Amino acid sequence: MAASSRLVWTAEVADPAPTARVLEVGCGHGVLVSLLAERLTAGTLTAVDRSATMVAAATRRNRAAVDAGRVRLFASGLVDADLPDGAFDLVCSVNVRAFWTPPAPEWDVVRRVLAPGGRVLVACSLMSQDTEGAVTDAVRRLAGDRGFALTAVRSGRTPPIDSLALELRAVHPDG
Ligand SMILES: C[S@@+](CC[C@H](N)C(=O)[O-])C[C@H]1O[C@@H](n2cnc3c(N)ncnc32)[C@H](O)[C@@H]1O
Repeated sequence: MAASSRLVWTAEVADPAPTARVLEVGCGHGVLVSLLAERLTAGTLTAVDRSATMVAAATRRNRAAVDAGRVRLFASGLVDADLPDGAFDLVCSVNVRAFWTPPAPEWDVVRRVLAPGGRVLVACSLMSQDTEGAVTDAVRRLAGDRGFALTAVRSGRTPPIDSLALELRAVHPDG
């Protein structure tokens, strides 16, 4: 299966350092896992998805990287995942509504597991004219309540549907 343009674009926007420790939330079939992992020459990619079926598919797709220990995949909701504190330089997700749907306890977990100076990228498909404003406002508010500030808004031509990526950073990265 060829990677869709929205996921290729998201990997370009995410642009992790080769040594980065990356967490993807809601990896689905693991296509973005593959695209990010190939950029991580010395880094690691951890992904969680609450669907065991999706994690099985993502594992099949990324078999070599999983066997090499560069990619770890867990069947779990983010809130229930056993992830260490301050362990990730980049947390990303694509089309995971939990990040803009109150009460969004996922943001508390992101705040806990993000390393000092780390980045968060929340991407989504712009399904309607209202999506960009609604998602941006909700993410700004829900993440803002957990000490994050919106630091960049990117939109991309990703046929057949345009995409949005919101970058956030902790306001007090060491606090
Ligand atoms: C719409 S799909 C997107 C999949 C993939 N990111 C993509 O863009 O193709 C959303 C995925 O996120 C997972 N998911 C939703 N909420 C989650 C949560 N709180 N923790 C972990 N996975 C979650 C779902 O099981 C599903 O596989």
